[in-house]
Amino acid sequence: MENNKPQWSSHLSFIIATVGSAVGLGNIWRFPYIMGKNGGAIFLLTYLILIAFICIIPLICELAIGKIYRTDTINALKEINPKFKWFGWLCIATVILIPCFYFVVGGWILNYIWIFISNNLPANFSDYFTSYSSQIFMPCLLTLVFLVMTASFPYRGVNKGIEKANNIMMPLFALMLIVMAVYAVTLPGAKEGLEFMFRPDFTQFNKSMVLTALGQALFTLSIGMGTIITYGSYMKDDSHIVKSGYTLILFDTLIAVIAGIMIFPIVFSFGVAPSAGASLVFIALPEIFAKLPGSSIIGLLFFILLFFAAITSGISILETAILAFINNLKISRQKATLLVCIIVAAISLPATLSFGLLSGVQIANKTIFDLLDYLTSNILLPFNTLLICLLSGWCVNSLWKKIFGENIFGYTFNIILKFIVPVILICVLVSGL
Ligand code: PHE
Repeated sequence: MENNKPQWSSHLSFIIATVGSAVGLGNIWRFPYIMGKNGGAIFLLTYLILIAFICIIPLICELAIGKIYRTDTINALKEINPKFKWFGWLCIATVILIPCFYFVVGGWILNYIWIFISNNLPANFSDYFTSYSSQIFMPCLLTLVFLVMTASFPYRGVNKGIEKANNIMMPLFALMLIVMAVYAVTLPGAKEGLEFMFRPDFTQFNKSMVLTALGQALFTLSIGMGTIITYGSYMKDDSHIVKSGYTLILFDTLIAVIAGIMIFPIVFSFGVAPSAGASLVFIALPEIFAKLPGSSIIGLLFFILLFFAAITSGISILETAILAFINNLKISRQKATLLVCIIVAAISLPATLSFGLLSGVQIANKTIFDLLDYLTSNILLPFNTLLICLLSGWCVNSLWKKIFGENIFGYTFNIILKFIVPVILICVLVSGL
């Protein structure tokens, strides 16, 4: 165990770090392309409803579990009910699978930063991305570089590493995002882009879209694998659980929406299909940046922004597993970091290669990369979240009282947590699969 339990040095640092965890590739890379593929505004509406009414509940539970038990995910769940230790390990397995595809994208970002710095822009980004991502050496190397860079922060500990990184990178990120979004809405296609985002077409509504929206909501809030439990365990005593939960949701959603406002006008201005998929940010956007005056600066700004978003989330992902390893395998922070890196490297390299050498290795019609993404977001996160709600509602002795006290908010929360959220999660999971 880490003997003197670390704490955030202030409430603000806690909020910044948690927002840093939540705001990541999920908001800027995944959200726009998933929204593009799932009908635009109707997806946004479903997503917002799920976040505001459903996801806030497990988010509050995870923060509360962290603050009450003040330990890693496995021990916290074990303390709730010793029979559920396996579930703690499942959460850690989930959180380890995420960087195995997330950091592949991190490696691509490093490569794009380099192209824009060296101003060595390819003539055609679509050909470039396809040929680059299918190579063996560079993409693998950069996935590993991104892993080592990210791991270097939790390696140094909570205050000196994680907190410092977030306090510097997140304000820079916010500033860059606002500059880019203001720029995007002055482009000629802005109106079309904004209509795509904000005018829902109800004919596009379907069950698998709802599951996708739920998966995206959980992924973007970092719920369902113990990351929020871990960051919550470093909370100061005077940090308020519910207010922190709402602040987190507010910022995360705001940033996802601003990212959309930044991306869709650009996409529509240049006649790219918003449903271009995972490559939207790596093909369509750079293609467009290259045509703009000052292209290398805009491109560079965008990919640095993406880099900050990815690394601050990556730190929280690794920290969840690292703290669990420190406490359960009784090893030092440094050894735990190394162990997590070795496991992530072993799985992320095949995922990196699934765009080239291993593209033929497919399970259920999905490459290794797509499978990791689908398995975590659409299956493990909803399932884990369901169990977290059931455990918090039925196994913790009046969690609601500890959070709200005996009042109308507490009673309402308790009923929603025990009955309504689990039923909705089960329905979405079963009908979407
Ligand atoms: N929420 C992060 C994002 O949107 C990803 C993440 C997932 C972070 C799981 C921590 C844990 O990019």
